[in-house]
Amino acid sequence: MPGGVSRGEGYDKGSTNQGSANQGALEWLRKGGAAAVEVAPGVINILDLGSATGKNSAMELKVAVEALRKAEGSAKQDIIITHVDTTYNDWNQLSKTLTTSPDSYLTATDRLYSHFQAKSFFEQVAPARTIALAYSGISFHWISKNRPLSDFWCQEPHTADRKAYEANKHQAAQDWLQLLQMRAIELLPGGYLVATAATLKGCESFNYLAGFINKGWNTAASQGLITQEECQTFMASHWFRSREEWLAPLQGELKDTFEVLQFQEDAVTDANWHKYQQRDGDESQRRQMLAEGYAEFFFGVSSGLVAGHLEKRSTEEIDKVIDLMRKEFVKQAAADPIEFKLAYALIVLKRK
Ligand SMILES: C[S@@+](CC[C@H](N)C(=O)[O-])C[C@H]1O[C@@H](n2cnc3c(N)ncnc32)[C@H](O)[C@@H]1O
Repeated sequence: MPGGVSRGEGYDKGSTNQGSANQGALEWLRKGGAAAVEVAPGVINILDLGSATGKNSAMELKVAVEALRKAEGSAKQDIIITHVDTTYNDWNQLSKTLTTSPDSYLTATDRLYSHFQAKSFFEQVAPARTIALAYSGISFHWISKNRPLSDFWCQEPHTADRKAYEANKHQAAQDWLQLLQMRAIELLPGGYLVATAATLKGCESFNYLAGFINKGWNTAASQGLITQEECQTFMASHWFRSREEWLAPLQGELKDTFEVLQFQEDAVTDANWHKYQQRDGDESQRRQMLAEGYAEFFFGVSSGLVAGHLEKRSTEEIDKVIDLMRKEFVKQAAADPIEFKLAYALIVLKRK
């Protein structure tokens, strides 16, 4: 299982782009929430797969819960929302977000309970035929394991390392099929799977900026902050699938299991790019602010990964590495300002 992205409030602070990408899912969470009342015979079980520390999904699931409670007779039904993430997730931070955020679904209604489960979404995470709605915000592009490419954060189709590229591609296909098979077991007939995930189409600016993280990581090794072995074994286990890769099992093995209600690819531009363009004044200062804004996103995700990978080291040592990587990233990103877009797919399925 890959390390988690969360480390204290870091992910929540840097996850505005993910929240923007999830906006298209809200309409479907409303529909899925309303449908849940008809689908579930008793307790209404909802999954949040790849929850991280919850800033986005606490708010997004509130939409589903509100729609659900509007349905006649639902007031007497208990609801359980189970958040699923890796063992590396910062579960304390999730708990804090759920209980203190005014936007949290916990403020929407009573008879609503939160459960946490440290388990991979490639495994079965709930008993068969118990889930009325499964949601996932920007998580299904993670794969269960991978072989290092020359650029660990980047999925370069033109990488020289064809063997590793093909191994990862194969892993991604197997994982997606397995993930869907698990949801096919858990979902009640008529239940929805609503997901957003990073996608291949339009991911160029992500790959470009992520390349600066690679450089920082290598610099940390050359300065002796981490060992060569630590450097070479680190990788972010993700794969940005193409439309064909996303749809393959849904048009093949699982054609009769799920109905595809929507598949759409789109991209959100990081708000810091608009600010950079609108801001007047000194160009080097504008670039610096842009690069620091982008770092918020990239290190919201990377800090937890670095900490997970270096878990045997002290917090001080880990902070030093992250600090160096972040400085490198900002320096490089400021030298070459580009529009950063997060490309995502919205996938909505109904269990037949
Ligand atoms: C980019 S975050 C998305 C968080 C949140 N849902 C949002 O929309 O902002 C992806 C999350 O997926 C989790 N993740 C990755 N692989 C996983 C797996 N196999 N099982 C469960 N969670 C996983 C990561 O730990 C991370 O917290």
